[in-house]
Amino acid sequence: MGTEGGLKRGFWSIGQLDREVAESLLERARRHAKGPRRSDVLQGVEIAALFFETSTRTRVSFEVAATRLGATMLHFDSKSSSLSKGESLHDTVETIASFGVDGMVVRSSAAGAPQLMADWTGLKVVNAGDGAHQHPSQALLDLYTLSERRGSPEALSGLRVGIVGDIAHSRVARSLMEGLDLFGAEVTLVGPATLMPPVGFRPATRVTSDFDECLGDLDVVYLLRLQQERIGQGLIPSFEEYVARYSLTRERYRRLRSGVVIMHPGPVYPGMEVDSAVIAAESSLVRSQTRNGVFVRMAILEAVFGDGVLA
Ligand code: NCD
Repeated sequence: MGTEGGLKRGFWSIGQLDREVAESLLERARRHAKGPRRSDVLQGVEIAALFFETSTRTRVSFEVAATRLGATMLHFDSKSSSLSKGESLHDTVETIASFGVDGMVVRSSAAGAPQLMADWTGLKVVNAGDGAHQHPSQALLDLYTLSERRGSPEALSGLRVGIVGDIAHSRVARSLMEGLDLFGAEVTLVGPATLMPPVGFRPATRVTSDFDECLGDLDVVYLLRLQQERIGQGLIPSFEEYVARYSLTRERYRRLRSGVVIMHPGPVYPGMEVDSAVIAAESSLVRSQTRNGVFVRMAILEAVFGDGVLA
């Protein structure tokens, strides 16, 4: 690959990127963060937003991003659509495509749906989260936020990142692991064995079920929400037990290295995966993650729907 031209059919997975393309997207995002708020590079482009699962940050930041680039985002409300009358996903997507839009931003509970939709319609599709599979715009905004904090993407090399919690059901963890790998960061997955992905999924990654044991080794603690909508019964003994072993409590926070940063994709469930005081602490990048989502999504939309020229 090597150019953003590889995104001309859409952006479904971090696996579509090599380091050079990932860096050029981060650079584009940086220019949006520093540059004028609005431009007209995507003037006249129409993008349908299809969110079959709930979303606040991702949906709104894609909308803000599209608006700032001059594109129009058209909303499709899955609850009031014919899907609720039993229409198939295929027919729904074909209907939307027949209106002549240029592409779609899609969130779906079905892994692989965004790429399938691109194949069905020939339209450009951007993945805003598909099942437990991928959430590539989230991974890029996390990489952006970490690079901003460390001074450059190069500074991610050797960074020790602990991703904590429900890894098995997390599209955020899957995408982020791949993204961090592109930049040479070292990932430790922390959580109960029942919430880990299958053995061999990431052979180079360290895996532990003992959060306390690795606390002092981490430069970044990335917390995940328990994906209760995807968790089967019996994967954790109880919420109390989960909090006792895996929550970033104030007491655990005090044992972290100085200079450590805390991240979370949101929505946060305070008192479960993290104490609310920790989320509000100076070392928490949660607000920056949300803010940077707009700049990174501008970069993604521009690369997919715009000229595809390297930054
Ligand atoms: C994540 C998602 O929906 O995958 N949230 C987000 O996009 N900001 C993570 C989550 O729901 O836990």
